[in-house]
Amino acid sequence: MHLNEKQSLITREIMKVKSVLIFDSGVGGLSVYKEIIQLIPGQHVIYAFDNAAFPYGELEYDVLISRVCGMVLAVCSTHDVALVVVACNTASTLVLPYLREKLSIPIVGVVPAIKPAAALSQMKKIGLLATPATVQRPYTYQLVKKFMRDCDINMIGSTELVLMSESKLCGKPVDKRKLQNILAPFINQVDYIVLGCTHFPLLKSEIQEIVGDSCTIIDSGKAVACRVAELLIEESPRAFLYKHRVFSSALVNKDSALNQELSHMGFSSIERAPPF
Ligand code: DGL
Repeated sequence: MHLNEKQSLITREIMKVKSVLIFDSGVGGLSVYKEIIQLIPGQHVIYAFDNAAFPYGELEYDVLISRVCGMVLAVCSTHDVALVVVACNTASTLVLPYLREKLSIPIVGVVPAIKPAAALSQMKKIGLLATPATVQRPYTYQLVKKFMRDCDINMIGSTELVLMSESKLCGKPVDKRKLQNILAPFINQVDYIVLGCTHFPLLKSEIQEIVGDSCTIIDSGKAVACRVAELLIEESPRAFLYKHRVFSSALVNKDSALNQELSHMGFSSIERAPPF
């Protein structure tokens, strides 16, 4: 094939490639990214995170709705996005209806996997580990009411754990004592722990070490990846040729540990998100 032909083939491919937009407040959505890429290798991804308003677990309702809708719409209006994954339980348990009103492409949310945990628990006692906002959401209460008829739930809402997950991804050591204190109400009390925040799978091995092997830890990542794969069946070609892109709402230093970590995962350097 001539260089020119090759070039025009690549150009045509670029024009056809549609991205999956994965959105979170910080690095938590990368746990969902890993599941999606494992299931759909070659799918082009745009990762967008709202670090200017992080952490989301302590924001007022109206602020959260306007941040998530603003940033997701800004990226969708400047890029060819096939589907949006709101890879944040704190946002999904509140914002999905507002976002669906504004966008006509599929939107997949991430919410705590309370249903499978309640069905599988032998002790009939499960733990929910999430942000302070998610454990208080009416949406979460509805899930509990619907699926926990014969089962007790113990909830921990922790921003500290979100911060620990961010630090770990940037190479900082995890403070096991602090983690143990946060998890104390679960130890020997539950046999299933639901990770109801996308940041927490990044700490799964440390959490498992503390709660012991008799406790099973589950999250929603795989189920979300399956849903994305189902919805993308009709979608366009895979994009092995192109690096994934990442956008942040606040500036991140080019040489930061985060940029290096993202580069190992197949992303180009963090770019500033379009204004919203
Ligand atoms: N990763 C997010 C979640 O799943 C939110 C963490 C935060 O910003 O507080 O809930």
